[in-house]
Amino acid sequence: MTISTISHHPPIIAPSMLKCDFGNLDREIERLDAAGAQWLHWDVMDGHFVPNLSYGALVIESVRARTKSFFDAHLMISDPEKYLDDYLKAGLDAITFHIEAVPEPTELLKRIRAAGRQAGLAINPGTPVEWVEPYLADCDLVLVMSVEPGFGGQKFMPQVLEKVKRLKSQLPAQTLLSIDGGIAAPTIAAAAAAGCQVFVAGSAVFDEPDYQSAISHLRQLASAK
Ligand code: DX5
Ligand code: ZN
Repeated sequence: MTISTISHHPPIIAPSMLKCDFGNLDREIERLDAAGAQWLHWDVMDGHFVPNLSYGALVIESVRARTKSFFDAHLMISDPEKYLDDYLKAGLDAITFHIEAVPEPTELLKRIRAAGRQAGLAINPGTPVEWVEPYLADCDLVLVMSVEPGFGGQKFMPQVLEKVKRLKSQLPAQTLLSIDGGIAAPTIAAAAAAGCQVFVAGSAVFDEPDYQSAISHLRQLASAK
């Protein structure tokens, strides 16, 4: 099993693999490597926690050895604790699950950390920030959803930036603040100014012909906060 050894310095652009061409997954990973993507963001959906189904641990595991990129899983699934071992085996570097799926997340966050991976907690746009606040010390990453999870290509919800600012003021310095949904050239600078360091981008990378220029443009806009 390969775990990423790449160092990552914010701002980090994390292409959302939900939007890639799955008929050419190898080629997509090669193109992202060549484009300088530091992280790959794997959106796992179960058709239950969210109204869409994507892929699971087997697909992620099958491509783990093809790249040294940091593998960031976003589990939009019910009962993530049942499947944790599969995702650990898949070679993920960070595993994020939703507070709405696991309202008492301490044990699961600790299991992820005990396995030597980064533990993340995600929060939906409509969920009060107070839900995650008691658990911030157990997180390596907090993921703020800026769309309702389930689909790529949705419109960014600027109201979540209040949540981002509040979290930023409370998070330990080493904990990464990530944002996911509708991140693109017109929205990324505001998210960076509010305190985000990791920017998940699906359409803004995969709908562009040149991944390298798309990623470097986003990174540049996120750096100029
Ligand atoms: C939505 C996923 C996102 C999504 C982002 O449920 O978590 O990662 O693929 O896609 P865009 O960037 O197109 O909003
Ligand atoms: Zn995601």
